[in-house]
Amino acid sequence: MAEELFISSSTDKKEKYQTLIPQVEALVSEEADLIANLANMAAALKQTMGFLWVGFYLVKGNQLVLGPFQGPIACTRIAFGKGVCGTAWKEKRTLIVPNVDEFPGHIACSSASKSEIVLPALKNGEVKLVLDVDSDNLNDFDAVDESALGELMRLIERKL
Ligand code: SME
Repeated sequence: MAEELFISSSTDKKEKYQTLIPQVEALVSEEADLIANLANMAAALKQTMGFLWVGFYLVKGNQLVLGPFQGPIACTRIAFGKGVCGTAWKEKRTLIVPNVDEFPGHIACSSASKSEIVLPALKNGEVKLVLDVDSDNLNDFDAVDESALGELMRLIERKL
């Protein structure tokens, strides 16, 4: 497909996600390389949703290491169980943090970040990478984000 993204002009984020997901599905279906797919996914999410920071951390040994992302520079390594990302890895589940200042051990890569969602992607029951999205608004993530971003993670899981 053409390397052009159609972005819904709707102000409803569910509609924005609904326009985005099939396009990402088409993009990743044509490419086998994981990093290439994660890079395009981060760019498509940033372009469509305008998040402060969106990107991936990949499990390497006992750490998460920064992968493809869009936004300000970020910390490169996160230990198992540390921060929101390391906790999502340890607990193998999605975490929504309405106010990062209230999350014990939150790792502040950017002082502008106010709320966050982290979703893991698993293969054979093991977390292989996480998607991390930061917002500069408090309480910016809900079940709509969890469901739509979860669909994107299932696309990635099929390629792991
Ligand atoms: N806040 C994250 C660290 C990654 S940055 O937000 C990009 C955490 O606590 O795991």
